[in-house]
Amino acid sequence: MFQLTRSVTWQALKRLYDETANDRIRDYFNADPQRFEKMSLRVGGLFLDYSKHQISSDVLDKLLELANHSALVQRRAQMFSGDIINVTENRPVLHTALRNLGEGPLMVDGQDVMPEIQRTREQIKQFSEAVRSGEWKGYSGERIKDVVNIGIGGSDLGPNMACRALLKYRHPDLSFHFVSNVDGTHIQKVLKRLDPATTLFIVSTKTFSTQETLLNAHTARRWFLENAGDDADVGAHFVAASTNLKAAMEFGIREENVFEFWAWVGGRYSMWSSIGLPIALSIGYDGFIAMLEGAYEMDQHFLNAPFHDNMPVLMALIGIWYINFAGAETQAIVPYDQALHQLPSFLQQLDMESNGKSVDIFGHPVDYKTGPIVWGQTGSNGQHAFFQLLHQGTRYVPIDFIASLKPEPGVEDHHFALLTNMLAQANAFMVGSQGDSKELSQLDPYSCPGNRPSSVLLLDELTPKNLGALIALYEHKVFVQGVIWNINSFDQWGVQLGKRIAGEISERIDERSQDFDGSTQGLLAFVRQHFDG
Ligand code: F6P
Repeated sequence: MFQLTRSVTWQALKRLYDETANDRIRDYFNADPQRFEKMSLRVGGLFLDYSKHQISSDVLDKLLELANHSALVQRRAQMFSGDIINVTENRPVLHTALRNLGEGPLMVDGQDVMPEIQRTREQIKQFSEAVRSGEWKGYSGERIKDVVNIGIGGSDLGPNMACRALLKYRHPDLSFHFVSNVDGTHIQKVLKRLDPATTLFIVSTKTFSTQETLLNAHTARRWFLENAGDDADVGAHFVAASTNLKAAMEFGIREENVFEFWAWVGGRYSMWSSIGLPIALSIGYDGFIAMLEGAYEMDQHFLNAPFHDNMPVLMALIGIWYINFAGAETQAIVPYDQALHQLPSFLQQLDMESNGKSVDIFGHPVDYKTGPIVWGQTGSNGQHAFFQLLHQGTRYVPIDFIASLKPEPGVEDHHFALLTNMLAQANAFMVGSQGDSKELSQLDPYSCPGNRPSSVLLLDELTPKNLGALIALYEHKVFVQGVIWNINSFDQWGVQLGKRIAGEISERIDERSQDFDGSTQGLLAFVRQHFDG
């Protein structure tokens, strides 16, 4: 059986790491003045500079060999054509179909899925236009002013991140709110500010069975009934994005207002489906389609560009170098753009729920590290919080810097400061405080050692299209890493376990159950005491 870590390429990469571990990134530029040109590329409105990595040309060649020797070509084709690659859940993985703007059918189980995708797109178009134009009325005849998305995980993070990122395109008379946490103060705080007569709730849940979302949805429904209309009016104020039509209708949502999607759309890959309804409501249907276009263009690039010019493949290989050979445990995401402040949380779920796995697709334990811990926050705030550790701490953390080039009118000076701060940081991480001189650094124990790697991703502008391309880029990066590690990036049994035990505990909180471990029994007794007052 093929064992990744025993392969000739893997072993060669290990040797290369030992040979290059003390290389200075800065020296790579001295040795090759064309390094920036060679190690940067543009795809549509995105530009990636990956030259400031501790990756020599030999290392890059070997990493590309790793990709060439993996099942990437085959698995990529399988994903796009709807083969069952989510083997543990026995499903295809077809978020790419949701943004497929090409002609022609896409057969899944002998059925072309494109007509139903187009039907749902049309439903999103009609509905978003009706709400945005004011044609859609609440129970008292008033137009909608506030939209509340109730969902969690993939049914929250994608639309939440995108609506905030694209805030400047938002309909001026609509406000958006996202409720996810089962902590009741989250929904309470949102409801307090709203008028039920002008509020629309979107219950976003693939399964319509997630505890947090159902509790929040029922609280919202109760609030609506207590403060406004009756049962017959619920349909004018609640819609759903779900694969579970029956449960949504039992909740009181009209059949025509359940926005369908399908089992083959993973939660964390679902912002392109009807889970993206808040995005269409906020920026308009054309903006939503522009976002799909950006993702579609990135899909085409991922499918067709040779690996050495393929942005997601290169980003995936760089990540593998740090995780599997250089011993990095984490990956920092630092957008120098306040509008992208939710991006680190979104990418955290995308990456960690996908590649946080320790068995391969055959269920065998792996003997190598898989997905990194993904974290981060916006610059320049991060500079005054965690950057100190990145500069001088004992951890080795590769960083993705992300920014858009185009300033907002009226704050050009801020934008200039923002971009120069980012470039200064990327430079400082590489050269340290003593520049070229290793000797000087050794003399001054308080100097910054430098040689800390980063990528810089520049968007021409933060538009719906470029955002779509950016998210698709990271989706494919995660996919490529999953293929090379030979894991299933599309299941999440750990999360399911938590959901199941939460259900069991809440059902049995009144029993003195011996089935739980001693600590859980003790804590349950303690909670019972205090909860009962
Ligand atoms: O976090 C696990 C998960 O299953 C995600 O994949 C999903 O996005 C989220 O829970 C919410 O599930 P649902 O959309 O079914 O409410």
